[in-house]
Amino acid sequence: MPPEMREKNMVPTMATSESTPLLREVDVAPTRHRYPHDKLRRLCTYSLGMLLVIATVLFLLPSAVLPREHGSIWSYFPGSNPFPHSSWPHSYGLSYKDLQTILQETPTPEKEREWSSYYTAGPHLAGKNLSQAIWTKERWEELGVQETEIVAYDVYINYPLDHRLALLKKSGDKTEVTFEASLEEDVLEEDHTSGLPDRVPTFHGYSASGNVTAPFVYVNFGTYADYQDLVDRNVSLEGKIAIAKYGRIFRGLKVKRAQELGMVGVILYDDPQQDGEITEENGYKAYPEGPARNPSAVQRGSTQFLSESS
Ligand SMILES: *[C@@H]1O[C@H](CO)[C@@H](O)[C@H](O)[C@H]1NC(C)=O
Ligand SMILES: *[C@@H]1O[C@H](CO)[C@@H](O)[C@H](O)[C@H]1NC(C)=O
Ligand SMILES: *[C@@H]1O[C@H](CO)[C@@H](O)[C@H](O)[C@H]1NC(C)=O
Repeated sequence: MPPEMREKNMVPTMATSESTPLLREVDVAPTRHRYPHDKLRRLCTYSLGMLLVIATVLFLLPSAVLPREHGSIWSYFPGSNPFPHSSWPHSYGLSYKDLQTILQETPTPEKEREWSSYYTAGPHLAGKNLSQAIWTKERWEELGVQETEIVAYDVYINYPLDHRLALLKKSGDKTEVTFEASLEEDVLEEDHTSGLPDRVPTFHGYSASGNVTAPFVYVNFGTYADYQDLVDRNVSLEGKIAIAKYGRIFRGLKVKRAQELGMVGVILYDDPQQDGEITEENGYKAYPEGPARNPSAVQRGSTQFLSESS
């Protein structure tokens, strides 16, 4: 061995040449292990990590690959096929046309008539008439839905106590009633539900209880724009009762805007203008003889502030 090689680990002195490395080799201490059983620990970490990956894959795989009731897990990602099968509606056992037919013909007109007659035969204000709920449960079971139950909920709801609508005229100290609405629909011989002793009186769900006497302002449909027109024309609305016809927007919103403008009450009525083509004027007979609106018909419903239905 040439002496230069033997002296490799020594600081080079004179024996440098063109091929002498610029950096000399330096001995470092052998790798120190921070913990005892270092290899074992690393092995454990790797195997636990691998186990975690395998478990995740095994967990996700079936839901991603196997068809599920509502399609695979990928159907939740944007841009994916929303149908339960990629080729649906073209093929999934049932053809699209067959499905359409089933949906359009279910329930049959006979069943529809039967169920509609049942539900309208008795009073069925929200939260009342448990027997209708039980009847419904039985129908579901008949249709093969085995796990049906009737569940009780505590809800905010109002029930009618009393109602009156009168037009008062003040002359001097005296106040006289010039008009009083019956607030009752005609009792028809042909429709026994119109004469049920415990029929639901005309009232608005979710309206406030109270007795107000105030001047009134006609507010057209009671839309936001209708109220705004009155505000822009300096018509004073505060402390007054709004008279609005049904139509255009959900009735609760007519009440909402009136309330916001400081009005104290709202009277909603069906204007014959909104009856469309099917009117007695156009030769149709009124209910129950025909499809036109019975002149005494009154709308019932909720005045909750449902803006989605506007
Ligand atoms: C509940 O409704 C049914 C049918 O609609 C009716 O026959 C029954 O009298 C009603 N019950 C009550 C307590 O109003
Ligand atoms: C409501 O107010 C009117 C007018 O002040 C009054 O004639 C009527 O008796 C009141 N009704 C109730 C239920 O308080
Ligand atoms: C409403 O009142 C305001 C302020 O008093 C007035 O400037 C405006 O001209 C009035 N508008 C109408 C339509 O009368």
